[in-house]
Amino acid sequence: MDDAAPDKKSRRRAKPASLLKLLLSRTARQATYNLFDNGTTRPLGLALQKAIIALILITVAAAVLQSVPEIAADLRWPFLATEIVVVFCFTLEYVLRVWSAVEDPPYRDLTPWHARLKYVVTPGALIDLLAIAPFYLAWLGAIDVRVLLTLRLLRFLKLTRYSPGMRSLVEAIHSERKSLLTCLMFLVGVALIGADFMHWAERDAQPDKFGTIPEALYWAVITLATVGYGDVVPITVAGKVIASVTAVLGLFMLSLPIGILASSFAQVIQRRDFVVTWSMVARVPLFNTLSAAEILEIMRNLNSMSVEAGEVIVRKGDLAQSMYFIASGAVTVEIPHQPVQLGEGHFFGEMALLKRTKRSATVRAVTRTKLLVLDSADLHNLMEQKPEIGNAIEDVARQRAAGQDDNLAGMRQRDDDEDPSQIG
Ligand code: CMP
Repeated sequence: MDDAAPDKKSRRRAKPASLLKLLLSRTARQATYNLFDNGTTRPLGLALQKAIIALILITVAAAVLQSVPEIAADLRWPFLATEIVVVFCFTLEYVLRVWSAVEDPPYRDLTPWHARLKYVVTPGALIDLLAIAPFYLAWLGAIDVRVLLTLRLLRFLKLTRYSPGMRSLVEAIHSERKSLLTCLMFLVGVALIGADFMHWAERDAQPDKFGTIPEALYWAVITLATVGYGDVVPITVAGKVIASVTAVLGLFMLSLPIGILASSFAQVIQRRDFVVTWSMVARVPLFNTLSAAEILEIMRNLNSMSVEAGEVIVRKGDLAQSMYFIASGAVTVEIPHQPVQLGEGHFFGEMALLKRTKRSATVRAVTRTKLLVLDSADLHNLMEQKPEIGNAIEDVARQRAAGQDDNLAGMRQRDDDEDPSQIG
């Protein structure tokens, strides 16, 4: 008995320690990493992402409104409370991201602290730090509160992490940085030459505006940018000729980087769509046997689409044109008395295509769902080229049809049992 007492005590004492261990375990770290980095494929991650985006928008709106003295005075406490809540959430996000960065595949071979150190200097982590650091610095008195108000607007940059479009734009700028730098050098060169010529042509007529090259440079930049405020204009003939040439050169100089950026942006988006569709196809078990070349082939025929929770994807009795593969999310097949839920990797909508009949049931999204859509003609092509895939789809369609027949028979039986005309 006596021996048992300390045992019990130590077990009781061990509890908080083991709870902490569980919280800090590898699984928890992996789950945290997945939640933040692959969040969009899971409802909880998606909700978290939406909450962070909402906080970013709230804090940016608050920063803008707080610059209006009357509003800032009236809503002093709500603004302060919002700031504290936002900084608390962003700090928690930052700490969790740094802690779970160890699970990032490129860092997996490094020691945990080396991996975290590498992570904190990435642009994303620096932006996250920039979103919270001014608050703590102002709190410690290291920076002025007015500077904090201005720096808060930088939290807008956090959106880059959550907007694939913004990420693509950054990627496009990064991949074309050398050509863009060349364009910038040309622009600076033309501005300098234009300013120099203009200074020479106008310095006597307007010494207050073109008396020095830096003053003329202001005119050159505004003209090259095709803004032309009109506050500084040449009055001599030579000056007007130089201004005309500079303005036309400005058009060329600006259209060049815009063109480069536009085509690079389009390429990045195309690449991203390709990778997204590829990973969606790879998630469907039916396509597991396909080689890379065959996946590529099938990708040409597949379209991707997203549906929101509750949205009807196919309606009973409708004509059928395509079948669907679930890349992420879940749908429910509304079969009377026994609806069936289908998840990631499953497919539906094949029965009407194979039997060339109308839809046998309504299918509705349960959560936000990403689908790959295969048209009727492409399905028949695929079945011809890959008979094993065709057979697998036909088998499933047969089982489902048998299930529907059983269900119908059961319903009829139930109706017969309940029909008052049958009683007595
Ligand atoms: P289709 O008839 O084209 O449209 C409705 C779809 O729901 C159907 O194809 C099947 O893909 C799917 N479906 C019908 N019955 C079942 C079932 N018992 N289990 C799973 N899916 C089904």
